[in-house]
Amino acid sequence: MGLDRPPVSTSAFWEGLYASRSDGWELGHPAPPLAAWLSAGGVFPAPDSGEPARVAIPGCGRGHDARLLARQGYRVSGFDFAEVAIAEARALAQAEGLTVSFEQRDIFTLEGDHRGSFDGVWEYTCFCAIDPARREEYVRLVHAILKPGGRLLGCFYPLREGTDGPPFPVSEAQIEVVLSPWFGIVEAGPPAESAERRRGLEWLVLARRL
Ligand SMILES: C[S@@+](CC[C@H](N)C(=O)[O-])C[C@H]1O[C@@H](n2cnc3c(N)ncnc32)[C@H](O)[C@@H]1O
Repeated sequence: MGLDRPPVSTSAFWEGLYASRSDGWELGHPAPPLAAWLSAGGVFPAPDSGEPARVAIPGCGRGHDARLLARQGYRVSGFDFAEVAIAEARALAQAEGLTVSFEQRDIFTLEGDHRGSFDGVWEYTCFCAIDPARREEYVRLVHAILKPGGRLLGCFYPLREGTDGPPFPVSEAQIEVVLSPWFGIVEAGPPAESAERRRGLEWLVLARRL
């Protein structure tokens, strides 16, 4: 990343990548690990009210995963601080006639409005986009917006050595350390499907909020 860029924790950094079409993370379709998990029968459990589960997606980008989950009947909220990402996510959902809530805001501000609001959180390529020094803060945030017993499904990436990013590398051990004060890990392993360029670099974790 160039030294003249704004810090990675600012929306300006990400707006700049979108504006210069440097959005190399864009798949143009839902994340294969999520699609495969759902196809294999994975579910975010519904609340006792019988209403569909509410699922949050931090750093949702253009909302391909949000739309996939909405198609499955979930009540989905996508959050991203990049204006263009939220505008495109809204337009894509509207074009499909899907109801999805997209909010343009910094995810680190979510707790005030969304404490204990969600049955599930889907994490994909947001954890690797934030400053690694904020990982504990991120996990605490996810814990805060989930209901007790809520599920975090996270596909962590990229599993490799080094410190440069984004995407900032992570290891299985680091994932366990950062999650364990706040979550009980239900299962973890490589996802059944990955985008070709991410194959072997992803680690799917289903965790229960403590
Ligand atoms: C690598 S992109 C991934 C986007 C999407 N998850 C996908 O898979 O296409 C990371 C996204 O997180 C957003 N983001 C990073 N830090 C954020 C923050 N603190 N608050 C809100 N959004 C953030 C960026 O704007 C960007 O859209």
